[in-house]
Amino acid sequence: KSIAELGDLRGKRVLVRSDLNVPLEGTSITDDGRIRASVPTITALSEAGARVVVCAHLGRPKGTPEEKYSLAPVAARLGELLGRDVTFATDTVGESARAAVEAAGDGDVVLLENLRFNAGETAKSADERAEFASQLAGLADAFVSDGFGVVHREQASVFDVARLLPSAVGGLVETEVGVLRRLTTDPERPYAVVLGGAKVSDKLAVIDNLIQTADRLLVGGGMVFTFLKAQGHEVGTSLLEADQVDTVKGYLDQAKQRGVEIVLPVDVVAATEFSADAEHEVVAVDAIPADRMGLDIGPESSRLFAEKLADCRTVFWNGPMGAFEMEPYAAGTKALAQALADITADGALTVVGGGDSAAAVRQLGFSDDQFGHISTGGGASLEYLEGKDLPGLTVLDES
Ligand code: 3PG
Repeated sequence: KSIAELGDLRGKRVLVRSDLNVPLEGTSITDDGRIRASVPTITALSEAGARVVVCAHLGRPKGTPEEKYSLAPVAARLGELLGRDVTFATDTVGESARAAVEAAGDGDVVLLENLRFNAGETAKSADERAEFASQLAGLADAFVSDGFGVVHREQASVFDVARLLPSAVGGLVETEVGVLRRLTTDPERPYAVVLGGAKVSDKLAVIDNLIQTADRLLVGGGMVFTFLKAQGHEVGTSLLEADQVDTVKGYLDQAKQRGVEIVLPVDVVAATEFSADAEHEVVAVDAIPADRMGLDIGPESSRLFAEKLADCRTVFWNGPMGAFEMEPYAAGTKALAQALADITADGALTVVGGGDSAAAVRQLGFSDDQFGHISTGGGASLEYLEGKDLPGLTVLDES
């Protein structure tokens, strides 16, 4: 069901689950991409005369309030981006929330405090979740699921509440799913996937799936050292998941059999420690000193990756190529973003997935329109590509 199918919303209280999980330094938001992405649905509901009750999480508090995870800074930024006041409720389903919703007029916007300050949000027990979901549902007449970044979570505000209220899919979720479907359903070829980030163990299922669908798999970031080890290289003090080396060897063999090209770096920036001030140098992957750690792909690798992407018509990228937040290790991620921007300009479909990669491209000076689509979902977009059923989507199909 789309929002239009919810009927006339004037005067109705509409609960919107958004993903406003943005990176913060203290109380300043370092990347407001997810807030921006939530604005169109909230605006549409407000313009339709609904009393909009936005709910979201921030970080991973353990079911009790913690100042550092308050959504208060997000409420302020949301108000600026919407160009209207946002009433911030200092709890989720308590006195403050009920009073704010009660006082809201047609078109007004309320943001509830962090959902994860309540243990029921993420509870394993379905009963506990259902209890919290019914309190949330009590604040509204209808529900709109617009937090694409959380649709893979079976949580009260994503899953259970959709069973209790007339529910619709928001515009952001529709757009995200539409783009990802183009990657999974007959993508224009060559189709390459670039994976980075720290841990290979987070990406095993997606690698497994991509070996069946992609033409090329390019790997960088911390996870690449497990691949290099699987190829017989020594990786010094780099991040290594020793217990995954055999699994990765299996993937390398499978990829070979299926004709999927796996592209690994040929050089890395190796540093004495994980610090911007550490002594560092570019070394070939077969010459990583025993006392150094790789913190970025090297310049030869950046050239190789750009070459392997140049003729691609579809590319999905998740995970930075190095510790880009430190200037000496940002070049690999920057070069990769540039390679994607170049092929986007030539008409290829490029999708950047994941909070870290999205924040990286913006911090490195790229604008969103240099890419086909910047997904707000990290885990969610990966699980979609894995072909998994996402609870936040299946529940909407049911309802
Ligand atoms: C994300 O950051 O990927 C989403 O907001 C989901 O957050 P979570 O991984 O803490 O559930």
